[in-house]
Amino acid sequence: KASENDVIYKAHDFLAKLYNHCMVKTPEGKGAREYLNDRGFTDEMIEEFQLGFAPDSWDYATNYLQKRNYPLPKVADAGLLAKREFDGKYFDRFRNRIMFPIWDPKGRPVAFGGRIIGSGEPKYLNSPETTLFQKGKFLYGFHLTRSAIRMKDQAILLEGYVDVITAYGNGVQNVVASLGTALTKDQAKLIRRQTESVVICYDSDKAGTQAAIRAADELIEAGCYVRIAKMPDGLDPDDYIQTYGAERFEKDVIGAAPTVMAFKMEVLRSGKNLSDEGERIRYIEEVLKEISGLTKAVERDHYLRQLSEEFSLSLDALKQQVFQFHKEGK
Ligand code: CTP
Ligand code: MN
Ligand code: MN
Ligand code: MN
Ligand code: MN
Repeated sequence: KASENDVIYKAHDFLAKLYNHCMVKTPEGKGAREYLNDRGFTDEMIEEFQLGFAPDSWDYATNYLQKRNYPLPKVADAGLLAKREFDGKYFDRFRNRIMFPIWDPKGRPVAFGGRIIGSGEPKYLNSPETTLFQKGKFLYGFHLTRSAIRMKDQAILLEGYVDVITAYGNGVQNVVASLGTALTKDQAKLIRRQTESVVICYDSDKAGTQAAIRAADELIEAGCYVRIAKMPDGLDPDDYIQTYGAERFEKDVIGAAPTVMAFKMEVLRSGKNLSDEGERIRYIEEVLKEISGLTKAVERDHYLRQLSEEFSLSLDALKQQVFQFHKEGK
């Protein structure tokens, strides 16, 4: 079994180097390289994250793997090649894509994300899950960024590969990303083992906002102190840093990130007209429901007082309502 895995590790390492070579050293990779350079990716960033290019060919990787005597069926099982139905021939699964190697926590490449150049569907084609790659157990960039997370005693959780690379390349190194899925318990624990303090900075759109709240709940359950950063509508961390720079990102976005509860309150508030009595009462109820879910008494007390002051309501009434929601399990 160990040696069976070994060949898959080796195949990923081999292809990561091959795709990187293709990107950096060959005319075929020029377009991809220019695309990345235009997006603000320096040669150092490309090198550090071993970005590559899979050329627009059906047999580029297949031929190289075959020449090196890799067992194609096993390599195909790991998602690096595909098999043609009618004659059982293997061919390249990743074609004409920018290749992002995905590493396990030990820094071994075990999967790829492949981005289309420009627009098109799917934007990212990812390796399937295998015995070596379970995306719910890994975090993108973690093997490179773990020491910075420890040193700063803070992790910044981002959404995508490019967000991690841009942040890291511009000096914000305590970053990781989940791999295109909702943050899992395992990933939350992985972060918690490095630090207690997490700032989530997902894309500033509806999906990102909802996903951030879910990730926050998972991290809190794992024992973290969590804040959720806000950015101008429509931007993601990569966009923000490329536009405004890393210093402003650290200061205005990460440094100013509200607590999870304050963030949730802002989300609940948005789109409501609080000078309307009905909408105001609905807002207060929604916040009380959130407060009833807080496990720390000190926190519950803090937000209840805040609410009581803002809307001139008696603290007792608010407490009673929270107790009621808590019992009902809302
Ligand atoms: N993702 C994926 N498959 C897709 C779309 C997204 O796996 N079809 C994952 C990738 O890990 C991606 C992350 O979700 O990095 C965030 O997606 P998105 O915000 O759409 O992409 P960006 O990271 O912003 O990439 P880019 O800036 O190049 O558009
Ligand atoms: Mn560097
Ligand atoms: Mn997104
Ligand atoms: Mn982006
Ligand atoms: Mn994005």
